[in-house]
Amino acid sequence: MAVLIRRLEEHDEVEPFDCGDEPLNNYLKRHAWANQQKSSIGVTYVAVDERALLIVIGYFTIATASVPRDAFPKKYVCGLPPYELPLILLARLAVDRRFSGKGLGHALISEVFKIALRVADDVGCRCIITDAYRDRVDWYARYGFVALEGAAESGPQRMFLDIRTIRMALKGAQ
Ligand SMILES: CC(C)(COP(=O)(O)OP(=O)(O)OC[C@H]1O[C@@H](n2cnc3c(N)ncnc32)[C@H](O)[C@@H]1OP(=O)(O)O)[C@@H](O)C(=O)NCCC(=O)NCCS
Repeated sequence: MAVLIRRLEEHDEVEPFDCGDEPLNNYLKRHAWANQQKSSIGVTYVAVDERALLIVIGYFTIATASVPRDAFPKKYVCGLPPYELPLILLARLAVDRRFSGKGLGHALISEVFKIALRVADDVGCRCIITDAYRDRVDWYARYGFVALEGAAESGPQRMFLDIRTIRMALKGAQ
């Protein structure tokens, strides 16, 4: 299956989307377009099958954010000024369960990495953060995401991925 990843468009078919998680389904169906188009508080990118270009089978939403430097482990921020660090918030990521385990999550997160590198070059961006569901922490760790300490024991786990880790991984892949 050839997959295309692009920005969410107004007439995309989102109603059949089902990743098995109601808040993530609901966000795509009820809020993603308005947040992108009207409020400018997050942009959603969708994965579509090239043979069915309007049917959304996966998505992620990103926004800019900042976090105090001291929230990060020292070795990642030593030498940086005591500012809030600019970053990309990976606010949501989901794959329709009919397509899970086929590498779509990998394709989507790889696109997040590409965007983060462009933002780092054009604007400034030190890392990507996400609030991972506990049972997805290992999935993010496969990409080098590191858990931030100080998070509550239940609920999502805040994780980050240093932009330098992405750069090094891409260099190694070339
Ligand atoms: C998490 C999610 C995005 C992964 O997407 P996907 O398309 O199924 O993932 P991929 O096909 O790219 O990757 C599958 C690989 O990850 C592994 N994997 C899947 N879930 C995992 C987990 N919880 N922990 C560790 N590894 C996991 C699989 O074993 C598989 O490994 P392999 O490549 O060695 O065979 C998808 O399952 C999903 O949308 N889940 C519901 C919504 C959700 O939890 N979103 C994340 C919110 S934090």
